[in-house]
Amino acid sequence: MSQNLTTPSKKPSVKDGPILREHVFDGIQEFDQKLPNWWLFTFYIAIVFFVGYWVVYYSTDSMQTPTQKIDAKMAAIEGKKNQELVAMMDKLDDQVLLEWSTNSTITSEGKAIYSQYCIACHAPDLNGGVIGRSLIDDHWEYGGKPMQLFNLVLNGSPADGKGFNGQKMQPWKDLLGPEKAAKAVAYVVSKAPHVEK
Ligand code: HEC
Repeated sequence: MSQNLTTPSKKPSVKDGPILREHVFDGIQEFDQKLPNWWLFTFYIAIVFFVGYWVVYYSTDSMQTPTQKIDAKMAAIEGKKNQELVAMMDKLDDQVLLEWSTNSTITSEGKAIYSQYCIACHAPDLNGGVIGRSLIDDHWEYGGKPMQLFNLVLNGSPADGKGFNGQKMQPWKDLLGPEKAAKAVAYVVSKAPHVEK
């Protein structure tokens, strides 16, 4: 059954051409062939490339891993947010928020933000409900100056606050950013009769 394609006298070598190997699996035999040089060349290049790439990728800082790329992007976003916050805090004070509360362009933007993010707990008429405090009664839990309201919205209930029916308010800084938060507060101020001027 088995049979060499090369001359049987000398020991067969793959250099002389394909050899039919002796073993048989399920009636199938294999040729033993020399791999073409071009194939071997790409194979060795791939190994060398792998070693080089591996060293560069993990042992030098010249390439970023996906985690590093994401971290860098997050840091950039965080930096931008902080810049925005700093710029906003520079420009805002009680007086500015009171002015904003009389500017109909800003209060209508603020109303849209309020309707999207605040209405569920503070109600359409701002009178609060089961979860959120009333914003139009005469009580302010953490101070009733515009900037005190803004800081509360931005940073959420203080850690030592007792909350309202045990509920605290989350910080809105990340979700809204300082500008939208300030506009929402301007709208609240425009509606609340008891804001301290
Ligand atoms: C998930 C419910 C919830 C949402 C949504 C919510 N709040 Fe509140 N808010 C609360 C709770 C609860 C308190 C009371 C917190 C406390 O006493 O510590 C509160 C308190 C306040 C206060 C102070 C009220 C007072 O009488 O002292 C203001 C102002 C306020 N929220 C504005 C906003 C604005 C603006 C938004 C939208 C950006 C908003 N809230 C969204 C639950 C909510």
